[in-house]
Amino acid sequence: MKDYKRYTVTSALPYANGPLHIGHLAGVYIPADIYVRYLRLRGRDVIFVGGSDEHGVPITIKAKKEGVKPQDIVDKYHHIIKESLKKIGISLDIYSRTSNKTHYETASAFFKKLYDQGEFIEKTTEQYFDEEAGQFLADRYITGTCPRCSHENAYGDQCEKCGSTLNATDLINPKSMLSGQTPVKRSTTHWYLPLDKYEPFLRQWILEEHKEWKTNVYGQCKSWLDSGLQPRAVSRDLDWGIPVPVEGAGGKVLYVWFDAPIGYISATKELRPDDWEKYWKDKDTRLVHFIGKDNIVFHCIVFPAMLHAEGIFILPDNVPANEFLNLEGEKISTSRNWAVWLHEYLEDFPGKEDVLRYVLCANAPETKDNDFTWKDFQTRNNSELVAILGNFVNRTLVLTHNYYNGIVPKRSVINETDQNVMMAVGFLKRSIEDNLENFKFREALRELMNLARQGNKYLADQEPWKIYKSDPERVKTILNISLQITAALAVLSEPFIPFSSVRLRNMINLSSDIAWDSFGIPEEYKSESIPAMIRHDNFIDCVILHPDHPIGKAELLFEKIEDDEIVKQIQKLEEKRNSNQIKNMKVNPQKPNITFDDFSKMDIRTGTVLTAEKVAKTKKLMKLTIDTGIDTRTVVSGIAEYYEPEQVIGREVSILVNLEPRELKGILSQGMILMAQDADGRLSFVSANDKVQNGGEIK
Ligand code: 2FM
Ligand code: ZN
Repeated sequence: MKDYKRYTVTSALPYANGPLHIGHLAGVYIPADIYVRYLRLRGRDVIFVGGSDEHGVPITIKAKKEGVKPQDIVDKYHHIIKESLKKIGISLDIYSRTSNKTHYETASAFFKKLYDQGEFIEKTTEQYFDEEAGQFLADRYITGTCPRCSHENAYGDQCEKCGSTLNATDLINPKSMLSGQTPVKRSTTHWYLPLDKYEPFLRQWILEEHKEWKTNVYGQCKSWLDSGLQPRAVSRDLDWGIPVPVEGAGGKVLYVWFDAPIGYISATKELRPDDWEKYWKDKDTRLVHFIGKDNIVFHCIVFPAMLHAEGIFILPDNVPANEFLNLEGEKISTSRNWAVWLHEYLEDFPGKEDVLRYVLCANAPETKDNDFTWKDFQTRNNSELVAILGNFVNRTLVLTHNYYNGIVPKRSVINETDQNVMMAVGFLKRSIEDNLENFKFREALRELMNLARQGNKYLADQEPWKIYKSDPERVKTILNISLQITAALAVLSEPFIPFSSVRLRNMINLSSDIAWDSFGIPEEYKSESIPAMIRHDNFIDCVILHPDHPIGKAELLFEKIEDDEIVKQIQKLEEKRNSNQIKNMKVNPQKPNITFDDFSKMDIRTGTVLTAEKVAKTKKLMKLTIDTGIDTRTVVSGIAEYYEPEQVIGREVSILVNLEPRELKGILSQGMILMAQDADGRLSFVSANDKVQNGGEIK
């Protein structure tokens, strides 16, 4: 383990515009938590910081949709997120938020320092402006036709159909999402971070000095650097965010990606007001950012450039970004509600926090996108946690109670098999360490399970139950060794499944003094030299539980998840999929405004259908006679696909009576029946809620 004096570990600040889902956990929080718990167990000085990202356009969009203020949105979700992270055991030292005072001050001061140092370039460009709403439009606020694939509802920054990254000015037929109007271009001035200027430094620092970064991270950085960096605007015209601390910059705020990563520093200040600086400015501190792949450019290029420009901060030593987790084969999406929400999981599966932690680590998208399925969740629980880990622990404890009243027996002569299995504890422990230090969390977890597998195999091969009478001394040794493996599992499982680790420790009465470093291969033996050392010493002992130590009651560590629980979750997703399909039906944009006079020109009356018949040789048309209160007249209406004539006769309807008569299929139609159209295109009659006599005016 390389000797760093201390560690600053950050987890990406989630936008407080929705709750957390399993994608957030698998991508960021679970690996970060495993890493931090591991460091703490090894006695390292580590701080683990996180918080809510409360600025940016997604939050203002959500607020607008719900008709509330951005602050209401972030207040609501900050608490939901904070609570759910705590419940799933993410052991953050602080979960802060970017709308608080310390952060405003820290981010403003950071900007001001760069500004005073003359780091920024000021540029005036043309941006879209909504004249009706009276504001500049963030790219996300503009929709239009994608220039690449002609999708009609592309966003100004991205087309969700073909995945292209866009500029709002590329869109064909752009419309403001605020007013539905076509925006106009207006010039506006912003501050830009000259990334091109820092490019040589970034190339050297990443491409030469950090070749050890994960290939997905290194590869993405290389491709950004190879295509040449451009200056990036660090301010926005928006009414939600941290005001640009420069005179005359009214109405402009810091770009959310400028202030969010500074949130890590602000959170550290709050956590350690007196000595926060050593976690950010001392070269002996290892700074590690846990993020998802969509954040790579900001954490590996933009934020380091900011820190470098500032001058006194350390840079991240590693940024072990994960790829994405999909859900049942589809991309997880907050806006489409296609997700397993953490707070819902916690409600649906009380006491099963570790199952989710286990599954998301075992299946983590470390090197490529991966898929979460409920079936796999069930299988991993039933055939791994229950059948391998839980089973081994339970067999060992039950046998110890049955044979020795729950007292750890003394071992006697040790044979080669015993030696091998004890050596495996040391080897697997070392392998878990090496993997964790290299951010290979899946592999580390696999090795933990291999230890339980070894335990199961040992018991199955030795069959103590068969020789209990004939060779009682041998059985004592077998159980003693099985108990050492159980104790090792209790300690080594803590980073991954902390709730179960505590339960297991309690079951075997293992004091919390038994630390990670108190057993296994001594630290001074490097991984490369272990085999030689083993040959030489022939055996590494691994005694955690001493003879005569009393263990507690054996309880089941994990329980089987039955099919009906999984079916319920799959159904829940199906319901989401269906309601999404309806929601995703296009709602036509609002038409241009009309005056009240325009409206009052329309004469709409209540009426009753007297007769109805389909119009021959057409699919859609039906000929109706309507009592309008004024007269009885004929109207041809396009409802035949949805109604049979007998369903229509006697209905109360609304009819536009002063529509210019026109001929349809040789029939003179005198007016129009008002219909509402459902999301799936179905038509439905619009009529007064209470009985109104025919001829009543609708106004
Ligand atoms: O992608 C996101 O969800 C961002 N809110 C992450 C910010 S991480 C950091 F910079 F704060
Ligand atoms: Zn497109």
